[in-house]
Amino acid sequence: MAIIMDGNGRWARKRGFPRSVGHRAGTENVRKAVKYCVRNGIRFLTVYAFSTENFRRPPEEVGILMRLLVEYFEKEMPELKENGVRLNVIGDVSAFPAYVQEAIRKGLDATKECEKLVLSIALGYGARAEIVQAFQKMLVSGETDITEETVSRYLYTSDLPDPDLIIRTSGEERLSNFLLYQAAYSEFYFTDTLWPDFDDDAFDKAVAEYAKRERRYGGVV
Ligand code: FPP
Repeated sequence: MAIIMDGNGRWARKRGFPRSVGHRAGTENVRKAVKYCVRNGIRFLTVYAFSTENFRRPPEEVGILMRLLVEYFEKEMPELKENGVRLNVIGDVSAFPAYVQEAIRKGLDATKECEKLVLSIALGYGARAEIVQAFQKMLVSGETDITEETVSRYLYTSDLPDPDLIIRTSGEERLSNFLLYQAAYSEFYFTDTLWPDFDDDAFDKAVAEYAKRERRYGGVV
C-alpha cells in the first residue's frame, strides 16, 4: 500500500492552527497507519513524506518537517522495532541537513532485522528524478541488457513490490511525481478525508473498495 498523505495544512487551517500543527497531526497519523498495517498483515507501506518539490516551501515549514522527521525516527524507534517494522527510505536525502541524515541512518540501522512490515518513507523523492538516476546508474555500470526488470532494479524501490493500492487523501486526484514507474497497474483510491483524519475506519473502507476491484493487468478475466 502506498499513501500520498495530503491535507495537513488544510486540517490545521480549519481549526485555526498554524500549518505546523497539521504536520504534527499528520505525523501522529503515520504511527496509526503503521499499526493498522501490522495488525492487518499488510507487509509493505510506502508514504510520501517529502518530495523534491517540497524544498520550495517556506524555509520555516521545511525546517518543521525536518524536525518532525527526526523526532519520528528517534521517538518511534523502540516501538517500530517491537512491532517488527523495518524502516526504509526512498529518494535522495543528500540535500537534507546532516542531523536529519544521521537520524535516518540510525533508524535504518536499528530496524534492519525487522520483517513484519517494511515502512518506506519517500524523502527527497521525485519519480522522474528516480527514473533519470536509474538510467544514469545503468550507463555508468555498463548495463546493456535494458529490460523492464533491469530498470526496476535501478529504482529506489528495487527491493519492494509494486504497490497494489495507492491512496491519496484530501480530495486531490493526481500522482504528483510519486511512484510513476511502479504505479503502472496500481489501483487508486481517492478520498476527501484529510490525512490527519484518515483513521482505521477510513483504512477499512479503502481496503474494502480495493477488494472489490477486478485487476486484469491488460488481459481478460
Ligand atoms: C501534505 O499536506 C503533506 C506533506 C507535504 C508532508 C507530509 C509529512 C508528514 C505527514 C509528516 C512526516 C512524515 C513521517 C513519515 C514522519 P499539505 O501540507 O500539502 O497540506 P495542504 O495541501 O492542506 O496544504
